[in-house]
Amino acid sequence: MTQVLISPSILSADFACLGDEIRAIDAAGADMIHVDVMDGHFVPNLTFGPPIIEKLRPHTKKPFDVHLMIAPVDPFISAFAQAGADILTVHPEAGPHIHRTLQAIRAAGIRPGVALNPGTPASIVEPLLDNVDLVLVMSVNPGFGGQSFIESQLRKVEALRHMIDQTGRDIILEIDGGLNPETAPRAIAAGVTAIVAGSAVFKGGPSAYGDNIRALRPSVHV
Ligand code: DX5
Ligand code: ZN
Repeated sequence: MTQVLISPSILSADFACLGDEIRAIDAAGADMIHVDVMDGHFVPNLTFGPPIIEKLRPHTKKPFDVHLMIAPVDPFISAFAQAGADILTVHPEAGPHIHRTLQAIRAAGIRPGVALNPGTPASIVEPLLDNVDLVLVMSVNPGFGGQSFIESQLRKVEALRHMIDQTGRDIILEIDGGLNPETAPRAIAAGVTAIVAGSAVFKGGPSAYGDNIRALRPSVHV
């Protein structure tokens, strides 16, 4: 029996006290910390970059699951690796050479991931499977927390589950956007092994984080 990984997105945390927030979700049972990096260009919102990640790094030993919504990516890979990212996930649309970008992330000593927008087909992952440790299915259009889950992405999860199983490799299949206690079990049934959740984890403040995380994580049998 394996439990699905929960990766709270700090996009929904209180930015005025991010260190405290990270310690609180760590203590509440988070498996990874999802860090949404936005540049106001690839997506219509701005968040944070390597200096903030570096300052947050001492606040937890849990992996930093860094989701880059920036273009270009390549000039920033080493800065994110040095700041303490453990997984660096990139969108194929962010540059002309996704395979090269994934190779560069691996060469920087951290784990590469590929993220698929709702309009991006599962098939784009097939030639990249040897180069990734994580596949992220966006179940909202990237840019903002608190959006509604896009149902059609469950079929993409099922297709990717099949594709990943055929590799025999332990690739994390993660879903991001609109996950809550109603949608998370359906994503797990479709085959994800990791769930990103922002608003569903951080609602109610620190005293609620434990219950909020448990509500997303029914046991799964694999
Ligand atoms: C959106 C981000 C998500 C977002 C999810 O671009 O990638 O990680 O924080 O937020 P919720 O869980 O509120 O949909
Ligand atoms: Zn994200």
